[in-house]
Amino acid sequence: MTVNMKKIAAERAVEEYVRDGMNVGLGTGSTAFYVICKVGELVAAGMNLTCVATSEETERIAKDLGIRVVNLSEVNNLDVTIDGADEVTRQLHLIKGLGGALVREKIVAASSIDQIVVVDESKLVESLGKECPLPVEVMVFGHEKTKRMIERQGCKATLRMRDGEPFMTDNGNYIYDCKFDGIANPYFLESRLDTIPGVVENGLFLNMTTAAFVARSDGTVEKIC
Ligand code: 5RP
Repeated sequence: MTVNMKKIAAERAVEEYVRDGMNVGLGTGSTAFYVICKVGELVAAGMNLTCVATSEETERIAKDLGIRVVNLSEVNNLDVTIDGADEVTRQLHLIKGLGGALVREKIVAASSIDQIVVVDESKLVESLGKECPLPVEVMVFGHEKTKRMIERQGCKATLRMRDGEPFMTDNGNYIYDCKFDGIANPYFLESRLDTIPGVVENGLFLNMTTAAFVARSDGTVEKIC
């Protein structure tokens, strides 16, 4: 039988980190989907949880499951956020944003006491950016100029498209997927990207993560912390 790695990683994380009365951040994507489902089960069983969604899609799924979803401004802080990732290192540095929700995901992660990542083994890498492009969210205004400044950091930036149109985020921005030949110094790159006018946020999540649950095809789940 095929193991559903996304599901077992998500369920382990929820079982270990979500407790009655908590404020919980809900991630976005196909792995976070199983987090939302598990949280929905806990709520249906009577657990009192208040949740903040990292995207409109997550909010819709959570509300359909009967989960109480509030705005981030309505809670003092979040006890835990559980989210997926596109790449994870053993130092718990991440690339996120292939699902298009990186800005809200980063704000929610930064508002959480614990940020927990759930992935299948294909996402665990030695170093960031060798395979996966780095998503960078940019303002629509002047985005071609912003692209040129991003590419000066040593990458090829491609405007993300969907159905023949530029993909638009929940925040009304575009995303450039930036292919580096590996990211040797993610802190330096992040500081450079942060100074480019028009860049809203980048998908590097450095020093934000408490633990990662990595599911393997043999059904085991490794916790990295
Ligand atoms: C969305 C994200 C997702 O967490 C990331 O893309 C992983 O998604 P999936 O679990 O579907 O592979 O960062 O912005």
